[in-house]
Amino acid sequence: MNNKWSPDSWRSKKAKHIPKYADVTELKNSLNKIKAYPPLVFAGEARSLKSRLSEVANGKAFLLQGGDCAESFADFHPDNIRDTFKVILQMAVVLTFGSSCPVVKVGRIAGQFAKPRSQDMETVNGVEMESYKGDIINGIEFTKESRKPDPDRLIRAYNQSAATLNLIRAFSQGGFANLNKIHQWNLNFVEEENAKKFREISLRIDECLAFMNACGINEKNVRQLYETEFYTSHEALLLDYEEALTRIDSTTGKWYDVSAHMLWVGDRTRQIDGSHIEFLKGIENPIGIKVGPTTDSEELIKILELLNPNNESGRVTLICRMGADKINSILPNIINKVKKEGSNVVWACDPMHGNTIKSNTGYKTRPLTNIFSEIQKFFQIHKSIGTYPGGVHLEMTGQDVTECMGGLQEITDEDLKNRYHTFCDPRLNASQSLELAFLISDFLKDENFLSSQSSNS
Ligand code: PEP
Ligand code: CO
Repeated sequence: MNNKWSPDSWRSKKAKHIPKYADVTELKNSLNKIKAYPPLVFAGEARSLKSRLSEVANGKAFLLQGGDCAESFADFHPDNIRDTFKVILQMAVVLTFGSSCPVVKVGRIAGQFAKPRSQDMETVNGVEMESYKGDIINGIEFTKESRKPDPDRLIRAYNQSAATLNLIRAFSQGGFANLNKIHQWNLNFVEEENAKKFREISLRIDECLAFMNACGINEKNVRQLYETEFYTSHEALLLDYEEALTRIDSTTGKWYDVSAHMLWVGDRTRQIDGSHIEFLKGIENPIGIKVGPTTDSEELIKILELLNPNNESGRVTLICRMGADKINSILPNIINKVKKEGSNVVWACDPMHGNTIKSNTGYKTRPLTNIFSEIQKFFQIHKSIGTYPGGVHLEMTGQDVTECMGGLQEITDEDLKNRYHTFCDPRLNASQSLELAFLISDFLKDENFLSSQSSNS
């Protein structure tokens, strides 16, 4: 067997969910341009994230990963970026304050464009066309021209990612995230009960900061009060693009995919002998593996050995997405197996993808009760096994959309049509996201997970 890895060795394996481009020369031209473009992230930042995730794996921090199911060219706007960033920060404040737990913030942003679809083709009124596969591949409009995979889109996605990341870096380091400014982050779309709870936390944080300031500790001498760490991630689905952004890091001589800090493999492409696992094997970034209900635990162990041969802590996050009705019967066996093997992983819960239903009004939606229920069960299962529920992975936005049902705003299936804007899966809106943060904060507090952790469970 030829074990030699290179950024293009995935090409010799079976590649699922990768589009066929009609004009290969055009594709190569786009990829060659991207190969010459600057990296979007620095390898040292990916290493910092890995060490943060290692703290999560050891029960000393909590991972909050979230953003759009699919970013789009049409919704590219500074306000959208700001609002998603702001809600993630607000959630992190709730979690950090409520449970005294450091929060590692990772956006599904600045590169989350390519989508695996359950059907390769879509038929509308008897007309069959290629499914929409994300703006980096084709357009959502149901026309022949738009649905054709277009290599120019790769360049556009790179540019949008670069501009998005630029704004995120400015927000993270330029004073927007200053803890003294928390009360200025508006709560426009947030339901009053949650907004009130958030304002109470802001006041208490203000008191803490005033006290610390009186002791001589303030934003001028403590960087963490003024700025925040925020990392990016996306599904490493479109391997042509990921390959073009995979470079040798000059300080370590190792390969990094510099399209994002963290990359994950989806539930549909995690075959041990497939292209996507082959690609992830060779990059040093922290990586995620979606773990759905069809996961074979023996195969998962083999994948972990392949992707993390040195059992490095922080390298792998297992993003479990079973569904509220399945999690109890499937997840405990998987956790027990991984625990028995002694594999170092971060356990994260994606309560979105296993809870998608079609509403009576015909929309793809997710009831908040099921989302909450899956998270609650995730925490209970880890408690009973003695492992650490390290994080959540959410599809969410800072906008006031009506895509998921329920919550304090009581969004009904009749309401879904009002502001259903997603390009792919339904997202939590700003209010629902904050509601979830309060819930998780209560779980973390109640169960006292953090202090009860022995390392490496
Ligand atoms: C996603 O995260 O948008 C996704 C497609 O998830 P999964 O691979 O878990 O189905
Ligand atoms: Co999705």
